[in-house]
Amino acid sequence: MNYPSSIKDIYQTILKEEDLGAIATYIPELAKVNPNKFGVHLITKEGFEFGIGDYKDQFSIQSISKVLLLSLAYQLLGDSIWSRVGVEPSGTAFNSLIQLESDLGIPRNPFINAGAMVICDLLISQLVHPKEDFLEFVQNITGNTDIIYSKKVAQSEQKVGYRNVALCYFIKSFDNIKNDPEEVLDFYFHVCSIEMSCQELSNSFHFLANDGFRNIHQEEVISMSKAKRINAIMQTCGFYDESGEFSFKVGLPGKSGVGGGIIALHPDKYSIAVWSPKLNDKGNSYRGMRFLELWTSKIESSIF
Ligand code: DON
Repeated sequence: MNYPSSIKDIYQTILKEEDLGAIATYIPELAKVNPNKFGVHLITKEGFEFGIGDYKDQFSIQSISKVLLLSLAYQLLGDSIWSRVGVEPSGTAFNSLIQLESDLGIPRNPFINAGAMVICDLLISQLVHPKEDFLEFVQNITGNTDIIYSKKVAQSEQKVGYRNVALCYFIKSFDNIKNDPEEVLDFYFHVCSIEMSCQELSNSFHFLANDGFRNIHQEEVISMSKAKRINAIMQTCGFYDESGEFSFKVGLPGKSGVGGGIIALHPDKYSIAVWSPKLNDKGNSYRGMRFLELWTSKIESSIF
């Protein structure tokens, strides 16, 4: 299979189509991004890389970070984390409060905002310098020490993140947040503010396509069994109330962010990152979803 020519063909096809998405504006800093950016980057399990368009531009990876956050927590704390957060698709929006009441403060999965906050709380209890340690983890798996938090994006969200504040304090009322909610929120907003290019993003997820081993030195990031489980949660929960649709159309584990990025991977084959800032009404990149749908159809390969 000639991956580069397939990527080029699909990229050109999508450029000719109308982009029906709309940029996220609820985080003021994200509203400043050029809506026409469009990049794709793929890295195979063996390390072959190919990118097109704006694949070297950094953007806010937002909720995509939650997979890396979970990876660190799962590596450090093992299966004990599942007493604090579930592994079921929520079928609700990423910032919904609805199920928390009946679920007694146990978020359905680690990728909705509530679940990621509980993971932040677990890491705050475990690490001396959670923000620094998480960033170092991300830099190590990407092989790039230039990756940083965007203070501007974190502060921008901190100022208007009323719903996230409500979520965190609500979970605290059920005693499923153990630390100061303000500390948890600060860590959470920073985690979401990490910036990466499509190239860095596909590289940072390479370990999940490679049985838990990072590409450069074949060091184990997490065990094969844990990598399998994280991929399973991405498959079922990576796109919130559009997870079924993504699975149906694309057929790969993946994760989206409101910055317009999507990462998807084929275990034992490749990871692929797409970035286009305009989102559909579920908060997932319109062109990103479209690109990946055409991608697995054209190369006739998905996990199914
Ligand atoms: O908490 C938020 O609302 C954002 N920092 C992250 C949301 C997000 O990326 C949802 N993904 N599509």
